[in-house]
Amino acid sequence: MTDRVQAYGTPLYYFDGTVLRDRIHDLKQHLPASAELCYAVKANPFLIKEAEPWVERLEVCSPGEARICLDQQVPEQKMVISGVYKDPKFIEELMASHGEIGWYTVESMNQYQLLTGLAKAYKRNLRLLLRLSSGAQFGMEEAEVETILKEQDPSVEICGLQFFSGTQKTSLKKMRRELEKCARLTQAYGLKELEFGTGFPVYYFADESFDEDAYLAEFTSMAEACTDGLTLTLEVGRSIAASCGTYYTSVVDTKHVGNERFAIVDGGIHQIAYYGQFMAMKLPCMRCLPEREEPQEPWNICGSLCTTNDILVKEWPTRPLVPGDVLAFEKAGAYCVSEGIALFLSRDLPAVVLKSAHDAQEHLLRPHMETYALNEGRS
Ligand SMILES: Cc1ncc(COP(=O)(O)O)c(C=O)c1O
Repeated sequence: MTDRVQAYGTPLYYFDGTVLRDRIHDLKQHLPASAELCYAVKANPFLIKEAEPWVERLEVCSPGEARICLDQQVPEQKMVISGVYKDPKFIEELMASHGEIGWYTVESMNQYQLLTGLAKAYKRNLRLLLRLSSGAQFGMEEAEVETILKEQDPSVEICGLQFFSGTQKTSLKKMRRELEKCARLTQAYGLKELEFGTGFPVYYFADESFDEDAYLAEFTSMAEACTDGLTLTLEVGRSIAASCGTYYTSVVDTKHVGNERFAIVDGGIHQIAYYGQFMAMKLPCMRCLPEREEPQEPWNICGSLCTTNDILVKEWPTRPLVPGDVLAFEKAGAYCVSEGIALFLSRDLPAVVLKSAHDAQEHLLRPHMETYALNEGRS
């Protein structure tokens, strides 16, 4: 059994800062040399402090994410305050006390008015990135962007465009169309910056293969070809964070029903979900601890919620399972820790541990946390 499971118990999220650092450096090696990297912190806010020194910017989409950044002394100049809902009270709080924020994105005319109004009231010279819509509810149509550009409000500086159209982008053809269009518009509007969310894909399942080096090489050559003269910032979440995380959950019961074998674990779908998992049919990269060479047999791995949906994996070929075994789910560093339906069944939240690359120490970022008081509505 691993020491970390013994030390912290399960369910447990464990993030490895060295893997994170190496991943960021590796990505930078493969991306255009002049491009800057912006960590989209929604992918995993527990990595903010660790990742901050290795990226040029951090994209922050809610008051909660901003507070984590500020509490952790992220330099304000590196923060991009983004998001489809910019709570006016919170933006005013930022404006009053945090005058050095790097950039604000603008997703609608109302947001533009909010930001210019507050910039005047607090005598701040804001730097704005206008978000171009991809057709969804985020960002604005070109006509609105052009209206803002014509207005030339002196209280704000329009630095460039921002764009993001979705995650797990396997199609470079679509990416090329979007990147070329964004670069062309940025240049046509006489702006200097393009902040582009790449949605780089992560392959999670055992039967998938992906030549990432070839994918990134093609991305880089097309980005270099169309962004001449622009400052290009790549907003990336999943592809930065996924590989550094492991989720550990313990087998607490085993049974046979008909011809099927079931292992019940102390975690479940409220704590881990892989993008693209379908009815638990795909096999994530996972291991059973302790490892033993024994004949394999198919096991259904089920969580501890009272719903038949709580199946993590169907028919996983593994050695015979017994209570006390630990299952380690790999590539769990992005979104898994924050996207689950955490309050369902009032189960405790998993502990979160980061082994930092900065001091080589393990840090307990969150102990196992009870949720019953939250679910009751009382404190
Ligand atoms: C505006 C924006 N930028 C970047 C990202 C990060 O996307 P990914 O995790 O696919 O890199 C997101 C994700 O939703 C986003 O909304």
